[in-house]
Amino acid sequence: MPEIAVAGRSNVGKSSLLNHLFQQKGMVKTSSTPGKTQAINFFTLNDQVAFVDLPGYGFAKVPDNIRKQWGPMIQTYLQKRETLKLILFLFDVRRIPTGEDKEFLEWIALNNKSAILVLTKVDKLTKNELNANTKKILEKFNTENLHYVHYSVPKNVGRKELMWIISDAINDELKNDELKEADES
Ligand code: GTP
Ligand code: MG
Repeated sequence: MPEIAVAGRSNVGKSSLLNHLFQQKGMVKTSSTPGKTQAINFFTLNDQVAFVDLPGYGFAKVPDNIRKQWGPMIQTYLQKRETLKLILFLFDVRRIPTGEDKEFLEWIALNNKSAILVLTKVDKLTKNELNANTKKILEKFNTENLHYVHYSVPKNVGRKELMWIISDAINDELKNDELKEADES
């Protein structure tokens, strides 16, 4: 089954986005306290695609022994998982990317996986602020061909667009697999 991973800083809204995509409140545990998700969780949709809720990076107040396992766990997953087809990289639209955020994104790019930048919590800004911040974020990340989507759970923004992107990515992948199979036979 192809997999789609949801990654990003702690508290950015990863679990909330999954609940919203699936239209199922409480399927994934969310919290106003960062560090809620502490393991890699899988959810399957129609037996066709799996969504993967990853623990967030960048949160210091999680017990040391747990935090030390996170980095390697997430890195190994993103690096080695062959069924991983698309990474949704979530970023809070109110923030400006730090070195750590940039490193994380560069690191995704290095692994040669398709990624989409999802700017979350857009309901928290006015339209002008949203435009200005989006511009700043894209400048900071400095990635020309990275596709981005604005997202808001309470205002129901971005769900349809993201669904299209996801289904495109999966269909491309299925086509590639068919071509490969045809090649091999
Ligand atoms: P960790 O599991 O700790 O890495 O966090 P997470 O990225 O899974 O974040 P989570 O979904 O738990 O959400 C964190 C907080 O942000 C919660 O209080 C959510 O209600 C809030 N939140 C998530 N998405 C939105 C959004 O689109 N708009 C607003 N206003 N708040 C949001
Ligand atoms: Mg979470």
